Amino acid sequence: MNLTITLVFLVLTSTVRSLNILGIFPYHGTSHFLVFRVYLRELANRGHNVTVISHFPEKNPPANYQDISLAGTIEVLKDDMPVEKSYTSIINTALFLTFTGKENCEVMVKNKQVQDLVHSKAKFDVVVVEQFNSDCAFGIAYKLKAPVVGMMSHILMPWHYQRLGIPYNTAYVPFHFLEGGTKPSLYQRVERVLFDVYFRTLYYFVTQRSDQNTLARYFDEIPPLDQLAGEMKFLLVYHNFILTGSRLFPANVIEVGGYHVSKAKPLNGTLKKFVDEAKHGVIYISFGSVISPSSLSHERVKAILEVVSELPQRFIWKWNNKTLLKAQDKLYTDSWLPQVDILGHPNTLAFFSHAGMGGTTEAIHFGVPIVAMPVLGDQPANGAAIEESGLGVQVQIRDLNKENLLAAFRKVLDVKFRERVKQVSKAWHDRPMPPLDTAIYWTEFAARHTNFTFRTAAADVPLYQHFYLDVICVFSIFVVILVGAIRLSLRVCRSKSPGKASEKKQSKKSKRA
Ligand SMILES: *[C@@H]1O[C@H](CO)[C@@H](O)[C@H](O)[C@H]1NC(C)=O
Ligand SMILES: *[C@@H]1O[C@H](CO)[C@@H](O)[C@H](O)[C@H]1NC(C)=O
Repeated sequence: MNLTITLVFLVLTSTVRSLNILGIFPYHGTSHFLVFRVYLRELANRGHNVTVISHFPEKNPPANYQDISLAGTIEVLKDDMPVEKSYTSIINTALFLTFTGKENCEVMVKNKQVQDLVHSKAKFDVVVVEQFNSDCAFGIAYKLKAPVVGMMSHILMPWHYQRLGIPYNTAYVPFHFLEGGTKPSLYQRVERVLFDVYFRTLYYFVTQRSDQNTLARYFDEIPPLDQLAGEMKFLLVYHNFILTGSRLFPANVIEVGGYHVSKAKPLNGTLKKFVDEAKHGVIYISFGSVISPSSLSHERVKAILEVVSELPQRFIWKWNNKTLLKAQDKLYTDSWLPQVDILGHPNTLAFFSHAGMGGTTEAIHFGVPIVAMPVLGDQPANGAAIEESGLGVQVQIRDLNKENLLAAFRKVLDVKFRERVKQVSKAWHDRPMPPLDTAIYWTEFAARHTNFTFRTAAADVPLYQHFYLDVICVFSIFVVILVGAIRLSLRVCRSKSPGKASEKKQSKKSKRA
């Protein structure tokens, strides 16, 4: 059975036209590219000719895979963000996105190989661009006259709604950087409006303007980037409604969340022994690759360690802090850990996480409940999604103490809770097509059907129509005219027959009497 499917698949794929595909990934964050890498390599494995502009050249590229490497031009982000959540950290996040968006564009456009590629007028069937903190890549795709597919490794950023006509309303659309999920309080909605304006103002007036100027320095006649962004054929978002909830997406916004997770391999060495011999199971703690646990306050570290000693489970903590290792039989620490293999191990019962999209996706994939402590970026929205989907619970940093953390772990370790998480995971896997196939299918679709736009008309409706201002105007004019006409006719009646109206009234009154 499996063999036939494989054979049919091979026959189908071998008859598919090999496409010339360019991937443009100007952002230098490792966690993003780890996701894209899986998709890009798979495109090459399926026989397409793939060229990738990024900061992460392949060490062992598949056949038909070429890199245009930007590596070394910007220091790659790693392990240096503090575990802190406040308005200041959100304000700084926006500045960080703005600054890196500009810099990523400058570094890429200045690159000699990138310029040569554009000037060679290379023929690409489709260009895949990362959608994150810059629209610079659209300028290059435009010069190559190829259809564009947008791709992201997380949920939508505030500027991604308008360009494709995706409905955005603070009342039910979770805001990337803030708490509240799909059911924010009034206070949270006020917060969202203010930060949404702040983020988008910086994006349009600083990043996008700067990128437009950067492109103009090297290439001529590039239309406004926002217009090019609106012309992309598809946007492949790293959502799936089982986790991120039922969203309002047009037909050309496709959910492909989950494709990066690989098969769990058996653990080995001391880690294998530690996990295999955990009679009461294991809880895994990791705050990802850019948030440093060293910047957790002393009290918070103490609270976590107290929970470690109180619960019967063994713990694995991604942290190379050797001083923690007093309790050798309870806690295992290391600076790097095989996360997928740990989450995929049957003894792993829970995941204490910062709610990054990568780790959250891996947890839902293997059905491991999460205790989420969101810090920055999309994590507050992911944390809310984790709670709303039933995948886990949240403990905000400000509430992190022994009691709250214990309560959160007890809740997710409960048999009923874990049963529910297994159901969530089952639903997550139950799709008409695996997410990697979906991502590749729509990429190829964009290359096959170049003469169409799949953009919803909603994206092009001017604001005055969106808010019905013109219709309200028509009705208002109508009402004004109607009222005017009535008043005029009354006045005319009165002036023609003075006294008649009062006579009538009086006669009515006398009839009643
Ligand atoms: C594959 O892409 C590279 C780089 O863009 C190009 O030089 C090469 O000619 C392409 N190969 C084929 C077979 O189209
Ligand atoms: C797109 O339209 C042009 C002009 O009508 C035509 O030459 C071309 O073959 C069409 N492309 C596809 C993929 O149908």
